[in-house]
Amino acid sequence: MALFPTKRLRRLRYNSTVRDMVRETILTKNDLIYPLFVVPGTKIKKEVKSMPGVFQMSVDVVVEECKEVEKLGIPAVILFGIPDHKDEVGSGAYDPNGIIQQTVRAIKKDVRKLLVITDVCLCEYTSHGHCGVLHGEEILNDETVQLLVKEAVSHAEAGADIIAPSDMMDGRVGAIRKALDENGFTNTPIMSYAVKYASGFYGPFRDAAESAPAFGDRRSHQMDSANSNEALREAESDIEEGADIIMVKPAGAYLDIIWRVKEKFGMPTAAYQVSGEYAMIKAAGKNNWIDEERVMIESLTSIKRAGADMILTYFAKDAAKFLDRM
Ligand code: PBG
Repeated sequence: MALFPTKRLRRLRYNSTVRDMVRETILTKNDLIYPLFVVPGTKIKKEVKSMPGVFQMSVDVVVEECKEVEKLGIPAVILFGIPDHKDEVGSGAYDPNGIIQQTVRAIKKDVRKLLVITDVCLCEYTSHGHCGVLHGEEILNDETVQLLVKEAVSHAEAGADIIAPSDMMDGRVGAIRKALDENGFTNTPIMSYAVKYASGFYGPFRDAAESAPAFGDRRSHQMDSANSNEALREAESDIEEGADIIMVKPAGAYLDIIWRVKEKFGMPTAAYQVSGEYAMIKAAGKNNWIDEERVMIESLTSIKRAGADMILTYFAKDAAKFLDRM
């Protein structure tokens, strides 16, 4: 192997044309999934304080937003619902006329190509803000799975294109797959939040989705951020149960996990650049401490470089506009 001075790695960084030629990772609009928060009412568009540029929107506004997202060339949105009433068992989640079910129907009526992914969890719908039904302070696994199954089927019935369980209960992917198949939704893919860590980076989301737990935390079902081998076991069990796409969440602080999961299973892999990641970049950008646009693209490109085939990000629209200008 040639050594310096024969070998000079800087030759291929000489100008932007050569840099463009040797670039290994290219972010495209097809990589992006845009999260949306739906609230009851009409004509509502309320900014989330900790997430500038992200809004809670009523169904009518979400439909208009989806038209714009489609026009920008973003292939998919993921929906989160905030119901008008919450109860102990999260019945708004599997109500055939619930907020998400109504929203999916409305989008499907007016927007042609956009894929509609629905987040399946109970935390936005329970009065206690936990992801499942409780016995005392314990989140019951198997009882919760039954409700998640109902939620998933009702989303599919409303017309959801992809079902995304985010609850981290054991066995839910298999149960949801079985129920979708039995109800005639054999072609509806499951994107499972397979590797979801108990993370401080979800803080702003809980403002947006009004889903902060009333007591305790999510550490009895979400993963310990110190663990990496366990991530492979989580991914493996979801794949065995029938997940079509597996997700790692959060993204930026877990690039090693994205890499290991992609290397080991070679599955279509999604990564979620979560609310806290977005909020930090936005806040620092606003203060002119960093160049927001540059850091946005750098962070998304790094997530893709680590192995993600698709990225759920609140920057989706900004990134699409940036890519159009390139
Ligand atoms: C659960 C869910 C959460 C997020 C996505 N789905 C919150 C949680 O687990 O507490 C977080 C997304 C984000 O922070 O952007 N329904």
